[in-house]
Amino acid sequence: MTEIRVLHDEAQFRTHTAVFRRAMHMPIPNDEQWQVVLPSYEPDRVFAAFDGDEMIGTTQSYGSSLVVPGGAVVPHAAVSRVGVRADYTRRGVLTALMREQLEKLPDPVATLRASEGRIYGRFGYGLAGRWRTVEIDAKRAVVAGEMAGRVRMIDADTADKLLPELHETIGLTRPGQIGRWTGWWARERDRRSHAENSVTVVHSGPDGDDGFLTYKVSEVKDFKHQMSVKDMVWANDDAWRDLWIYAARLDLVDKIEADIPLDEPVSWLFEDPRVVYTEDINDEIWLRLVDVERMLQARTYGAAEPVVIEVQDKLLPANDGRYRVTPDGAGRVDAPADITISVELLGAVYFGDTTFSQLAATKRIVGASFDQADALFAVPQKPFCGTFF
Ligand SMILES: CC(C)(COP(=O)(O)OP(=O)(O)OC[C@H]1O[C@@H](n2cnc3c(N)ncnc32)[C@H](O)[C@@H]1OP(=O)(O)O)[C@@H](O)C(=O)NCCC(=O)NCCS
Repeated sequence: MTEIRVLHDEAQFRTHTAVFRRAMHMPIPNDEQWQVVLPSYEPDRVFAAFDGDEMIGTTQSYGSSLVVPGGAVVPHAAVSRVGVRADYTRRGVLTALMREQLEKLPDPVATLRASEGRIYGRFGYGLAGRWRTVEIDAKRAVVAGEMAGRVRMIDADTADKLLPELHETIGLTRPGQIGRWTGWWARERDRRSHAENSVTVVHSGPDGDDGFLTYKVSEVKDFKHQMSVKDMVWANDDAWRDLWIYAARLDLVDKIEADIPLDEPVSWLFEDPRVVYTEDINDEIWLRLVDVERMLQARTYGAAEPVVIEVQDKLLPANDGRYRVTPDGAGRVDAPADITISVELLGAVYFGDTTFSQLAATKRIVGASFDQADALFAVPQKPFCGTFF
């Protein structure tokens, strides 16, 4: 019999990490590495499945925040370390963990990164945001014009202190971005210190520091180098453009690789837009609307005739019901539905990366007025998180 418990002490957290990492075929942290992992365990957010005294499955979340369309920032659970011991899979252990976690989450919304695309839909997570991996031919990447501000290189100790502060000051602006928690920065510091050649530069404009870029340059062949963008954060267009100019003008670099928002206009920086090549498009944000009414109320809507959406949620039936969405907001109603949709697919359209019409074409949602719903949920910017967890 599987029993789900909330974990509280360090010894259990350490087993939790071991069970998860074994499920992912990853090495178990030694004593020194464990000190880096420990701050990522937050009280009341760590769940494990037990068979008697044996821990057989894991999940947890980090307390964070999330930007929704329109710019509001809501409390958010970043769900991670999901794993079931290989000798216990396909017996409902994850199902029990997910149910318990969702019922106990204090936040109205959760997101996660999925190792496989078929796992989380059944638990109400929809694919809500993707990123584009680009390769830039740096030798041909000519930018017309000069930088508007200044880029300076900082050492590791300065980066450890400055980056969390700067991330906080720049704030969360694009839908999909999330607040970074203490444990995230601890892991990031560790990653930076272990990544040979990790370099951070900070951008400043007329009002002070307003962006940063962490990158790594590796020698691929004699004097042929590849730059990988690891973390790039900016407050305004000048900071964004200057950081790219800095990257494109680095000596000895032949190729730049970066994961960027689908609609980031990086090709337009260069005289020859073909220097930017899309290598891949991958899913990034899997979104779970935990409190549907609150989340529908949190975002803004475009101009269109109202629609009534009937939501179906097998795991959290309190969300079942009809919601009227108008240009002025959303709320529960007792009225006939125009569209019937599962909570998973409502998550998929929430950020506007996918539309109701696209889902209707696949016959995964039913009803009418899809064009109106598309116009209400339309967004000026594609979602992007940019914080891996
Ligand atoms: C993914 C994982 C957590 C699933 O755990 P589990 O206990 O086997 O899941 P459940 O038994 O509760 O499965 C629930 C349903 O999802 C399906 N399912 C689970 N994992 C699946 C997968 N990887 N691919 C396809 N279907 C999957 C099951 O077949 C089952 O379907 P059913 O209800 O129609 O029978 C487990 O396989 C695992 O630890 N995998 C390796 C680590 C990993 O990828 N973790 C996720 C990190 S994001």
